[in-house]
Amino acid sequence: MRHLIVTAHPNYESFSISMAKELNNHLIAEGHEVRLRNLYETGFDPALSASDFQTIASGQTPADIKAEQEHILWSDHIIFIFPVWWGGMPAVLKGYVDRVFAEGFAYRYTDMGGEGLLAPRYGSTICATGEPYEQGGKMHQAMNLIFESTIFGYSGMKPCKRLFYGEVPTVSQETRQLYIENAKKEFTNLL
Ligand SMILES: Cc1cc2nc3c(=O)[nH]c(=O)nc-3n(C[C@H](O)[C@H](O)[C@H](O)COP(=O)(O)O)c2cc1C
Repeated sequence: MRHLIVTAHPNYESFSISMAKELNNHLIAEGHEVRLRNLYETGFDPALSASDFQTIASGQTPADIKAEQEHILWSDHIIFIFPVWWGGMPAVLKGYVDRVFAEGFAYRYTDMGGEGLLAPRYGSTICATGEPYEQGGKMHQAMNLIFESTIFGYSGMKPCKRLFYGEVPTVSQETRQLYIENAKKEFTNLL
């Protein structure tokens, strides 16, 4: 299976980046192909611009968007790994979705309504939070709604795993490593 891991964190020593790198290595060891992209490292411009709209309306795709879309087309499964910031995903990651999951690529409008164009791909999310897991119920629901009903839903992708790990800044290094081992288990013998 081909997995595209998309993450967004400015601190390469962070839990989210460790999670992304360890899951990358785990999936490769399991015999999968993986591409890992940290949007901070690649310098992806997250601001959907007037010129993006004009270029896409004229039937073209801006080069930086096209490069990311090609990674998606290559993949069978997209795994988003990120810290929850103010109840949502980091702005750079949100901007990636705004620009890359464009009309005509991820979805299109038809007489019957919207049609997702990225089937039969799967989508997963791994979120790190500051608040305890047990207190995160509403935020977990909101995040699942954003991905399952909109980003994956509108694009025709099937939701796969949705994992949340709580109190990441305050738990011990051992607990953070247990979280990573738990995620690896979740992604073993996947599909
Ligand atoms: C700008 C910012 C906003 C944050 N907002 C939230 C939040 O809304 N809910 C929450 O549980 N944690 C919040 N946190 C805590 C982060 O989720 C936490 O630091 C992160 O999960 C730790 O993982 P990391 O090492 O990958 O950054 C926030 C942190 C920052 C820096």
